[in-house]
Amino acid sequence: MSVHKEVKKVTTHTLQEMKNRGHKISMLTGYDYSMARIIDEAGIDVILVGDSASNVMAGHETTLPITLDQMIYHGASVVRAVQRALIVVDLPFGSYQGNSKEALNSAIRIMKETGAHAVKMEGGSEIIESVRRILTAGIPVMGHLGLTPQSIYKFGTYVVRAKEHEEASRLIEDAKALEEAGCFAIVLEKIPAALASNVAQTVQIPIIGIGAGNGVDGQVLVVHDMLGINNEFNPRFLRKYHNLHEQMLGAFTAYIRDVQTGDFPNDKEQY
Ligand code: KIV
Repeated sequence: MSVHKEVKKVTTHTLQEMKNRGHKISMLTGYDYSMARIIDEAGIDVILVGDSASNVMAGHETTLPITLDQMIYHGASVVRAVQRALIVVDLPFGSYQGNSKEALNSAIRIMKETGAHAVKMEGGSEIIESVRRILTAGIPVMGHLGLTPQSIYKFGTYVVRAKEHEEASRLIEDAKALEEAGCFAIVLEKIPAALASNVAQTVQIPIIGIGAGNGVDGQVLVVHDMLGINNEFNPRFLRKYHNLHEQMLGAFTAYIRDVQTGDFPNDKEQY
C-alpha cells in the first residue's frame, strides 16, 4: 500500500466548477523548476508559463522575441516541478498567427515536449480558426483579451484598453466567440473593472483578470512583479507581497563582503 497522499490535480473542469460555485481562481506565472515548486506547494490553482518570460527571464523589452523552443524549455522545467496546479503555456508571438495549421503544430509541440495541460493565445475573432483547430485536436485553449502584449507595436502603448464603447463591445463579442469556440477560460488584461465584470457575467467560462478589477472569477500576476523583484515596475493594479529586490540585494552584498573579508567560509563550513 502506498503511503503517499494522492494529490487532487486541478483540471479545466475544476476551474469551471470553481466559477459555478463562486470560488475565486488563483493563477501566477512560473518559468523555472525551483520557483514553480514553491508556487505549487503554496496551493496555486493555475501556473501560467507566460511569454512574459521574454521580459523577466531574458530581459527583452517586449514579449515578441521569445521563441517556441524557449517556451518549451520553460514549460518543461515547470512541469517537472508541479504536482497539483494546472499548467498553461503561452503560444509565443509568430507561432500561431500565420495560419491555423502552423498554430496547431505549435500547440502540439508544446503539449508533447513540455507535458503541460493547455495553451494560451492572444486575440479574438482574428485567431478563431486557429483556436478551433487546436481545440479539435483535444488541446485545451485559454484565451487572452484586452491588453495583448504581443500586439504592442499595433497599439503603441501599455495603457488601459477598451475604455471606449466600440472597443468594449468588440471585446465582449470576442469573449463570446472564444467561449463558443470552446475555450475553457479567458484572461482579461488591463481593462476597466466594470467591463471585465460584465464579461464575467456574460460568459459561462472562467474569466481571470490582471488589472481588470475584482468582479471576475480569478486573478493572475507575474510572479517576479508580486514578489517585488523588479523595483522599477509599479502599475496601479500590482500588489507587491514582498520586496525581494531589497532582500536579495542585501543577501548578495553580504555574501560579497564575507568573501572579500575572508569571513566565509568559516571552520564549520568546510571539510
Ligand atoms: O505572459 C504573461 O505573463 C501573461 C499574463 C500577464 C497574463 O500573459
